[in-house]
Amino acid sequence: MNNIYLIGFMGTGKSTVAKKLQRFLPFQVVEMDEAIERVEAMSIPEIFEKKGEDGFRNAESQLLSIIAKENNQIISCGGGIVLRQENIDTMKSSGTVVRLDATPEVIFDRVNRNDKRPLVKGKTLDDIKKMISDREEAYKNAADITVDASTLNVDEVTSEIVKQLALAGRLN
Ligand code: S3P
Repeated sequence: MNNIYLIGFMGTGKSTVAKKLQRFLPFQVVEMDEAIERVEAMSIPEIFEKKGEDGFRNAESQLLSIIAKENNQIISCGGGIVLRQENIDTMKSSGTVVRLDATPEVIFDRVNRNDKRPLVKGKTLDDIKKMISDREEAYKNAADITVDASTLNVDEVTSEIVKQLALAGRLN
C-alpha cells in the first residue's frame, strides 16, 4: 500500500508538510488529530481531560486501524502515535513512515505558542528534551525515512521527502 505517514514530535511541522506534499502527490490529506476531534466531538485538551491519555490513545489507535485500510493518503499523525507498537506495525504494513526531526529548541519554541497540546502545556525546555529522548527509540524504529526539519524550510523538507520516497521506490 502506498500511504505516507508523517510522524515526529509535536511541532516538527507534520501538518504543514502534509499540505505541501499534496502538491506533488494526488493523495488525500488526513489530519489525525482533527479526525479524532470529529469522532469524539471534543477538542484534544477535552479528550485528555475527560478520558485521560489512555482514552486518547485508544481513540488514536482505533482511528489509525480504519485509515490504514484505505490507500493513496498522506496522513499527518499525532506525535505520540509511535507510543504503541501496534500503531507502528499498522503504519509500516500500509505505507511508508516519514519522520520529521527537529531540535528540542526549535520544538520548544513552536509548541509554546499555543495551549492545544496538553502533554507539553507549561513544560520547560528540559522537560521537552526528556520527552523527546524517551521517545527517540520509538521514532527511530518506526521511520523508513527521516528528514531534518530544523535546518530546512518547509519547501525543502517537502522536496527532500519526495526525493527520498522516489529513491526508495515508494512512489510507484
Ligand atoms: C501528542 C501530539 C499531538 C496530539 C496530542 C498528543 C503527543 O499531536 O496528538 O496532543 O503525544 O505527542 P501533534 O504532534 O500534531 O501536536
